[in-house]
Amino acid sequence: MRTAVLASGGGSNLQALIDTQARGALAPAKLVVVGANIVGCGALARAEHAGIPTFLLKHKDYPSREAFDQAMVETLRSHQVELVVLAGFMRILTPTFLSAFPHRVVNIHPALLPSFPGVHGQKQAFDYGVKVAGCTVHFVDSGTDTGPIIAQAVVPVLDDDTEDTLQQRILTEEHRIFPAVVKTVAEGRVRVEGRRVRIETPKGLTEARLRSIEGV
Ligand code: GRF
Repeated sequence: MRTAVLASGGGSNLQALIDTQARGALAPAKLVVVGANIVGCGALARAEHAGIPTFLLKHKDYPSREAFDQAMVETLRSHQVELVVLAGFMRILTPTFLSAFPHRVVNIHPALLPSFPGVHGQKQAFDYGVKVAGCTVHFVDSGTDTGPIIAQAVVPVLDDDTEDTLQQRILTEEHRIFPAVVKTVAEGRVRVEGRRVRIETPKGLTEARLRSIEGV
């Protein structure tokens, strides 16, 4: 499945996807292009280093969100993209974009949704004083981090944690579950039923056994 990654920042999640692909463990997903909206962001450099084509579309160059999204859709279509992965892409997508890729846009969020949506999810959780935190991979809808949840991973919040140590612990889990989910979506084993997302298990495996094998 021809897969695009969109990013705005350092790109450590992109790197996890690239490394998983290099190990042969991302197929049938194939990273065909990386797009960014921020000049010089680390994600672009990581993609170039891995030999993946890139594009840069600056949202500030467009008169509206819809015009920006339309340009993104056209660029992604020119690469025959079938699946869009948001890895730290700091733009809210409009229906112009989402209707072009129905149930084919996934995002990673650094908190256990529906708690702490929006920016700095880890900091929001830390400041709130929660005892467990984590990350969520979900389908994207037109809300802010509101789409159906595909997978979550939980980490403890320790007494001597700082925002930084907690963020790192969450990030390690992001790098583990995001590539696993991208692979599973590309395999066509993910079904959305209203708000619930089901992962079809191959014959003979229980869901618990499958999760322990796949790590999600
Ligand atoms: C991650 O924390 C991700 O959950 C959030 O943005 C951050 C991106 O980090 N959506 P990176 O650019 O992948 O390092």
